[in-house]
Amino acid sequence: MVSSCENYVEDEFQALVEDCDPNTSFINQVNPIIENNCVSCHNGNQFPDLRTYNGVSTNSEIVMQQIVNRTMPIGGSLTNEEINLITCWIENGSPNN
Ligand code: HEC
Repeated sequence: MVSSCENYVEDEFQALVEDCDPNTSFINQVNPIIENNCVSCHNGNQFPDLRTYNGVSTNSEIVMQQIVNRTMPIGGSLTNEEINLITCWIENGSPNN
């Protein structure tokens, strides 16, 4: 049951990703969401270290997993728009833009 529910959520975001803006910006759009919602914990003490572009981009697959199934952020939540932005940027190949 749990896994079919997760698949449903992933399908929902997969559909949104088809409308991705190819210019989704790490610096202007993705990084502020990560800083506000993730870096309080993922600050070098907790894997993965999400303080830098390199930290986020090299861990992009698990970042996407954890936000799409809403396991992260612990103690908070992201809006669908925020999840979609980060997912789009990762689907675009996690550019340093
Ligand atoms: C309140 C602290 C806290 C916040 C905020 C938080 N995390 Fe985490 N995160 C953890 C802890 C603790 C773990 C390791 C234990 C676990 O997986 O539950 C973890 C694990 C992870 C992992 C590793 C999963 C794996 O497969 O090993 C990823 C990726 C991750 N978090 C991403 C994020 C992202 C992205 C955000 C922001 C949207 C975020 N986290 C916000 C505490 C936090």
